[in-house]
Amino acid sequence: MARLGKLRPVGNRVPVPDSAHDLVMPWESAYATRFLDSGTSALSIAIAIAIARQARPAINKPEVILPGYGCPDLIAAAMAQGVVPVLVDLAEDSPWMNPREVADKITDNTVAIVAVNFLGLAAPLEQLSELARRSALLLIEDSAQRMPPSSAEDGCADLVVLSFGRGKPVNLMGGGALLVGYPLEEKARTCCSPLPLVNERPTIRWALKRQLFNILISRLFFGLLEQIPALRLGETRLHALERISLVDPIPGLLASGLVRFEQAPDYRLELDRELADLDRQGWIRLPAKLGQAEKKPTKLLRYCLLAPDMETRDRSVQLLNQAGIGANAFYGAILPDIPGVHDVLPETSGLRRAKDFASRLITLPVHEDVTQKDIRIMVKTLLRSAQQQK
Ligand SMILES: Cc1ncc(COP(=O)(O)O)c(C=O)c1O
Repeated sequence: MARLGKLRPVGNRVPVPDSAHDLVMPWESAYATRFLDSGTSALSIAIAIAIARQARPAINKPEVILPGYGCPDLIAAAMAQGVVPVLVDLAEDSPWMNPREVADKITDNTVAIVAVNFLGLAAPLEQLSELARRSALLLIEDSAQRMPPSSAEDGCADLVVLSFGRGKPVNLMGGGALLVGYPLEEKARTCCSPLPLVNERPTIRWALKRQLFNILISRLFFGLLEQIPALRLGETRLHALERISLVDPIPGLLASGLVRFEQAPDYRLELDRELADLDRQGWIRLPAKLGQAEKKPTKLLRYCLLAPDMETRDRSVQLLNQAGIGANAFYGAILPDIPGVHDVLPETSGLRRAKDFASRLITLPVHEDVTQKDIRIMVKTLLRSAQQQK
């Protein structure tokens, strides 16, 4: 019998604003916060600041360095500023850019390096920060997928990007923030001054939208919506960034979201432990492998593993979905192969390791509606799938 309902792959429910929450944001000692209408807008303004503070007066084609595997919004943010995205291959079996290749790609036209946190794992920033400093560039930490950003601790990146969209650690049904290191405040003010300001308030319409959204991501409705191909749930493609606005956010909403994320269950260590047997079959548990380098590991957005090959990955995703777990391959391709990206990107070659990563990645839900029973199903299904490997 077909299973009714499915556990969604990612995304916490939208909280009720609570203006009694008077939180000090964990990054406030190092950064000033500017709210924008999306994470893509925040990244685009970060790139605009990087162009504006360039000492060299006449860069006619500014470039920004990005990982070759990632969200197409990275490309949209760069294109909106007329900047050329320069893609860098990843280190072996890792979502992180290879620092040697980053160094090779820096030219007189480079204005910034974007380090992208991955599903809750913090991109290592030290080496990139050193490279950026030596070449007088800005380092941007894109922390759309991690809360808090790792620079909150030590102010390592010059600018930090946050997203509050669906499928992010703090889901506020949209919005983003740009955290501006205090030395860049004046440049940020100049870049933001032409932007329109949108006042968001918790209207009845907003409250109804919130309720409906939370219902639609429940198991029953997610399972039904997924059956409607026209909705294209989970499809990844390039969408041009058409507007950028500053936002005066709903009072207490971000604070509620942060508290909610903080209080949600944390399955990271349990999955690390329960899936350890997969190592002998050639799998890589990315949080266990990469977490050692993190200064302060946090809750994940999704648990992530590399299967030994694409066939095993695809079979495992299929088995998990049959068991009612919304596991998936995430972007499924390197950036140049994502629909819409190829048309706007200069010819890019040499992303061999990124391609390999994209072909073997599998992500598991770990959001607030995941239960212990779901975890048991994930573990059992993956161990069974590994036994069927050739
Ligand atoms: C790494 C990364 N950066 C930026 C963004 C853009 O955020 P938003 O959806 O709020 O525009 C995303 C969204 O998925 C992302 O994953």
